[in-house]
Amino acid sequence: MATIVALATARHQAFRDQGYDVRETGLYGHRPMGLYVSAEAHSCLRKAAELLGLGTRYLRTVPVDSAFRMDTGELRRLIAADQRAGVRPFFVAASAGTVNTGAVDPLDDIAAIAREHGLWFHIDGAYGALGILADDAAPGYAGLEWADSLALDPHKWLGVPIDAGCILFREPAGPRDAFSLVPPYLRDEDAGELGWFSEYGPEQTRPFRALRVWATIAHLGRDGIVHLVQHTTRLARTLAELIEASDDFELLAPAVTSITAFRHRPPDLDTDRAEALNEAIPAAVQRRRHAFLTGTRISGAAALRACVLHPGTTKDDLTVLLDEIRAAAREVTT
Ligand SMILES: Cc1ncc(COP(=O)(O)O)c(C=O)c1O
Repeated sequence: MATIVALATARHQAFRDQGYDVRETGLYGHRPMGLYVSAEAHSCLRKAAELLGLGTRYLRTVPVDSAFRMDTGELRRLIAADQRAGVRPFFVAASAGTVNTGAVDPLDDIAAIAREHGLWFHIDGAYGALGILADDAAPGYAGLEWADSLALDPHKWLGVPIDAGCILFREPAGPRDAFSLVPPYLRDEDAGELGWFSEYGPEQTRPFRALRVWATIAHLGRDGIVHLVQHTTRLARTLAELIEASDDFELLAPAVTSITAFRHRPPDLDTDRAEALNEAIPAAVQRRRHAFLTGTRISGAAALRACVLHPGTTKDDLTVLLDEIRAAAREVTT
């Protein structure tokens, strides 16, 4: 929902800049509008583009580098190609913590490209925005401050009960222009300068989600949140070190946030059997009921993905996880 609100606001603004009111005319008769996301971007961006009538034909997938970060040279190339073809580029979404590997895109460079071409600069920090609070990860987030909109999910790293999606705007008038529609029976002179929350998104009646977020922040305090993020980020790096030091696991990406992406690769296994094994491992691990991890596909191949979020996780749990994967692998191969 945060992504939909951000993209609807960006769409409204881009049309207004060209003299159209998209709330009145819809997209009829307008020339195509280009959107740019990386190959590792979350599917919510595609869903938002579909729902808002922008279609996926002009949703450009920007390739990533070897660390799964958006390749900004490719971004420039795609924008230039669209401009030559009469498509109007208007929106770029960077990721601050991709779902597969926790990679943070080069936000500073993407912000500069957005400025140069007049694009709305959105950041999907649903999982990873809070990673900026970890000392050793913070430099990788340079440029986050340039976002026009930043999506983050307190129900992920912050541990707030689902659902609590959040979208922050540089300029709060933007979403209000895109959404405000207060019917006469709800008009309230006492609503104050900010008006109703329902003026900033599609929901009218809405639960008090912010209470859970406030209570969690009040309970943990800034120091508590920093500790949580720091602790889990360090554990993901420790897991990466354990993997690199072993001869039966392969690290697939640097651990920059609290996600470690890897593969089980017993030395005697050929590529096809390793592929089948890694596809089977997540369900087999879960069946054993001692550890939990998910599977994904990275660079076209089956991969394992550990995302450390619980503050009570210890280094011993990481050793248990690797041993559980070994045990599950033996079960599925015998
Ligand atoms: C980067 C990113 N964006 C968006 C989402 C969507 O999250 P949700 O549907 O939980 O709000 C996720 C969930 O994993 C994510 O990791």
